Amino acid sequence: MREGSHLISPSDLSDADRAAVIEAARRIKASTRPADPSILRVGALYFNPSLRTRASFEQAAALVGGRCQTLNAGADTWVLELDPDAVMDGGAAENVVEAARVLGQLFHVLGVRSFRGDGPWAVERTEPVLRRFAEHAGVPVVSLEGTTHHPCQGLADLLTLHEAFGDDLTGLPVTLTWAWHPRALPAAVPHTFLLQSALAGCDVTVAHPEGFDLDGDIVAEATAAASSRGGSVRVTHDRHEAMAGRRLVYVKSWGPLGASGPTDPALRSWLIDEDSLKGTDDGKVMHCLPVRRNVVLAGEVLDGPRALVTRQAGNRLWAQAGLLDHLSTTLALS
Ligand code: CP
Repeated sequence: MREGSHLISPSDLSDADRAAVIEAARRIKASTRPADPSILRVGALYFNPSLRTRASFEQAAALVGGRCQTLNAGADTWVLELDPDAVMDGGAAENVVEAARVLGQLFHVLGVRSFRGDGPWAVERTEPVLRRFAEHAGVPVVSLEGTTHHPCQGLADLLTLHEAFGDDLTGLPVTLTWAWHPRALPAAVPHTFLLQSALAGCDVTVAHPEGFDLDGDIVAEATAAASSRGGSVRVTHDRHEAMAGRRLVYVKSWGPLGASGPTDPALRSWLIDEDSLKGTDDGKVMHCLPVRRNVVLAGEVLDGPRALVTRQAGNRLWAQAGLLDHLSTTLALS
């Protein structure tokens, strides 16, 4: 992997690494026997809640013969100070620097989830928490969802796209559409789907209301990646037009970058229901979950033949097993 062997953005994986992870995921998914036992020790530290990531990361480690220990920051651990330069005379008992160094002694791979920082977007977009762990742990750090990206979700989404549409995704017409939600949600998943599908060479349309722009640097990175791989990226505020002829619609709500307040109820019409999908080319629907039924996505879509969401969530297991298998090979543990 690039960037000193950490996985924080989808583009930290080279094309060869990404192909190896997906190949390992497919091999493990197709296999009825567990991988050979190894000594892979995986840590997973959560600053935010999780259902899918926590359960699937633990099971993925077991599937490749390793072990995963989950820690909820501030509940299972001391309250952590995230500023290495802080004068620690407040409530935090331990600094991120020592915590990362110690966890790096105990685990071969360290997963960290941290996606709701208090700083301005210009700071939060640099992934200060993940980067501090990456800087001090001395072992590969895997993002279990950061502020800008959710690369493990991205790998599961890529595996799901391959299963639904085949090995060659070049030119596949996909739309990433914003959907209404009562409050501003983080933008890691839409950023990752945009970049991951661009890296796969898809024709990506991004649809969102005015004022909900994704990070300009990530849009530029995705645009460059897509254009060098036979795909494209474009952005529109016309959701109806964005559905025309699409084979896949990825639904996700996000807030104005760095915001955490309520979302304008006038935008409730961005609910994705069967009627809104009529213009697609029998378009399948993906969402990372959790999802608010009949607010973000209509139950008729979630329960219908378009929905890939359950398979997509199940693929978290296989994609992360592929990632940990690839990492253990890279680390020469098995
Ligand atoms: N999609 C996802 O990451 O789900 P959790 O937040 O439940 O882990």
